Amino acid sequence: MADDSTKTAPKKLFIKTYGCQMNVYDSERMAEALSAEGYVTTENADEADMVLLNTCHIREKAAEKVYSDLGRLRPLKEARPGLKIGVAGCVAQAEGEEILNRMPLVDLVVGPQSYHRLPDMARAAAEGRKTVDTDFPAEDKFDHLPAREKPARGPSAFLTVQEGCDKFCAFCVVPYTRGVEVSRPAERILSEARGLVDRGVRELTLLGQNVNAYHGHPGGLGGLVRDLAAIEGLARIRYTTSHPNDMDDGLIAAHGDEPKLMPYLHLPVQSGSDRILKAMNRKHTAEAYLRLVERIRAARPDILLTSDFIVGFPGETEADFQATMDLVRSVGFGAAFSFKYSARPGTPAAERAAVPGAEADDRLQRLQALLTEQQRATQQAMVGREVSVLIEKPGRMAGQMVGKSDYLHAVHVTHPKAKPGVIGRVRISASGPNSLAGIWLDS
Ligand code: SAH
Ligand code: SF4
Ligand code: F3S
Repeated sequence: MADDSTKTAPKKLFIKTYGCQMNVYDSERMAEALSAEGYVTTENADEADMVLLNTCHIREKAAEKVYSDLGRLRPLKEARPGLKIGVAGCVAQAEGEEILNRMPLVDLVVGPQSYHRLPDMARAAAEGRKTVDTDFPAEDKFDHLPAREKPARGPSAFLTVQEGCDKFCAFCVVPYTRGVEVSRPAERILSEARGLVDRGVRELTLLGQNVNAYHGHPGGLGGLVRDLAAIEGLARIRYTTSHPNDMDDGLIAAHGDEPKLMPYLHLPVQSGSDRILKAMNRKHTAEAYLRLVERIRAARPDILLTSDFIVGFPGETEADFQATMDLVRSVGFGAAFSFKYSARPGTPAAERAAVPGAEADDRLQRLQALLTEQQRATQQAMVGREVSVLIEKPGRMAGQMVGKSDYLHAVHVTHPKAKPGVIGRVRISASGPNSLAGIWLDS
């Protein structure tokens, strides 16, 4: 008995995920691909037989963090030379072979379009061979991955529908690390969605670097949303990340009349200055963005809008920055991410003269103060309102549960009926710094 269990003891896989939601989805799929090789996931790197870092290249800090984390794995590898270390994701794609030169402890480097080849690469690593795969293969990786058999872990799941980007914003590495826009066929997505719903998933977030450029359905993303909405048991649909130029009429209309499409939209604008938008190659003006927001709000007046901003883009003056602040004041965002520009090797903007760091830091602080004020006001305005909450997991206090409202706010409730996967009506009673509290009305 003891001998047998030693022989069949599963190998342990630790995955650390950096960056965007698509990496979260990819990490799940990589774990599934390696489970066919006998790997089970662990939360503890110290007991792992393989450590995979699923990396992000979007800003310098994100990429450099990977190298410091790799450095920290060195004593672990020295103590257990059998430990295999892999680098996946966007740093892997951008730097490839260079990672092996800089970090000889790494055994395999796999880009985001090649991770269906991970089982072969893991076998090679076990035999002591190092491999690098950063191809953009002709075959669809999703066709070569095992069907999603594992029980879903929670009532909410990600589902990638589109990958890559052809927009080439002047600051951004994504078109280089994720390649050109590719949409998955609608039937595949629908069948994956049905499988997830059969395992208890009630909310799907459709993912794509440019999700609303989705063209795997004749009706675009709006058409796909409507087909998904017909799946019984699926209660909520979200999608991210959208580009303003791809918000077509069909999708806007779906926000107006498809109740399963949640009243929440992440719509990055980056800047409120036309001069900077042009230099960024965003291909729209601030005015066009404001008009688009009006159309979306006409279809769904209560929609909560969020965005991304970059400050300190090369050439940005105080007047350009003030135009961004003006845009934020006119839209009123429920939440937003704002970043200091980071020059990325290989992108057009990296060649241009930078705004002094201290100036960019100061703008970032002022923008974040305004965005935080808007976020607080949006949350405060929820107090007294009735929302629906999808319960996800226990909260920190005994008996308390936490879930997400239609507007994606975290909401704490305490009620015997508030169990994971249940959707209930909740009256919001208080607003904290990052979450709301509510009273359970019914389910
Ligand atoms: N596909 C999405 C977002 C991609 S990256 C979109 O089109 O908006 C997420 C966010 O990171 C971007 O919206 C942008 O605000 C920020 N970002 C991207 N490149 C950056 C850079 N070089 N420096 C600082 N922020 C950056
Ligand atoms: Fe990057 Fe988004 Fe621009 Fe594409 S649209 S280049 S992903 S910021
Ligand atoms: Fe980062 Fe790649 Fe996502 S660069 S943001 S992990 S697409």
